[in-house]
Amino acid sequence: MKLKPLTALKNINGRRVLVRCDFDVPLGRKTMRKKNTSAKQRGKFEIKDDTRLEACLPTIQYLLKNKARVILIGHLGRPKGQVVPELSLLPAKDYLAKMLKHPVTLIPLERYIGEAPARAAKQMKAGDLIMLENVRFSDREELNCHRFAKALAALADVYINEAFSVSHRPASSVSAVREYLPSYAGFHLQEEIDKLSLALKKPTHPLTLIIGGAKIETKLPVIKQFIGSAEHILVGGAVANDFFKALGYEVGTSLIDEEYIQDASSILEKISQVKTELILPVDVEVSNGKKSIIREPFAVHPKEMILDIGPKTIKLYQSIIKKSKMIIWNGPLGKFEEAKFSQGTKRIAAALQSSQAKVLVGGGETGELFKTKGKTKLRRNIFASVGGGAMLEFLASKKLPGLN
Ligand code: 3PG
Repeated sequence: MKLKPLTALKNINGRRVLVRCDFDVPLGRKTMRKKNTSAKQRGKFEIKDDTRLEACLPTIQYLLKNKARVILIGHLGRPKGQVVPELSLLPAKDYLAKMLKHPVTLIPLERYIGEAPARAAKQMKAGDLIMLENVRFSDREELNCHRFAKALAALADVYINEAFSVSHRPASSVSAVREYLPSYAGFHLQEEIDKLSLALKKPTHPLTLIIGGAKIETKLPVIKQFIGSAEHILVGGAVANDFFKALGYEVGTSLIDEEYIQDASSILEKISQVKTELILPVDVEVSNGKKSIIREPFAVHPKEMILDIGPKTIKLYQSIIKKSKMIIWNGPLGKFEEAKFSQGTKRIAAALQSSQAKVLVGGGETGELFKTKGKTKLRRNIFASVGGGAMLEFLASKKLPGLN
């Protein structure tokens, strides 16, 4: 996919550049060690995973170095058109100011952008940096509203998409806005597209796709896409439960999506005719509410819930990872937010860290797995996509409204 690169943007000095970033990062309440901290301090939020913010830094740095007037826009959470103070972009603003060593002013916006951003944009000098509040505080954003997009576009001369992870949403600041401004791809967005396109069009073989997590409707199209092209498709998480159900197994109280069982069935039928091997867990960890037990997947009891892959599956998946030259992974293999059911996911993450393959990982939770001491540490062969849903849609060859 050919996007207009940021380097093609000439005469940057003094130009007003609107940069759509993804500030949708996990936040937590600040833990204050000191005694006598005020309620205001205790109420502050801190960023738990800065991967998405880090991804925008090179583009912003490049624009500032070239003396553009930079206007950042982005969203956090799903405030649904309401001003939700907990979803303010203040933590993102503080983080960027610190990382860039540059002052950033946060400007409130109204339903149709309003006076404050227009005034601030007008007063900016070359090399200034401002950030608009959460665009989803306006109900217009998620409606891909042209009046809202036009008002946004009026603040700037140029638009840059540096938010791959939201490029699958038909939103005003992602899609409609580009009809009113010349548009370019940010450095990280370009890298995402290059890496993901390579996996789709020119993968290195043997290629392994690892799919886990829930929301099977977003995962099945990717599985379908790689049937015939990948040597192995390893399945885990709730997606595996749907396949077990399709095979007629008892899945107890496990998370499944009835609507897609038929689809899973057709995939199993199709896969038997091609070279791709779709591999389901050969053992699973289940819980009956009191204790956890390792079982073969066809031996799950009606009152049990599948919560992780078992040790034999871990070994099997590790051996396939070892033989692979390219691996794409989206979604945890168990309920990894609960420590006791995180083993499968963690061991697979460790296997990827020591593999020689080109690895692409994505999905809200997967980046978390490569963290040591709060910092994501990735080996050079691993690329972490900032996209969850966007990565899946791209890999399923869907048209993304932010990339058309
Ligand atoms: C994400 O977290 O995947 C992106 O920020 C998109 O957010 P959304 O799913 O709320 O549209």
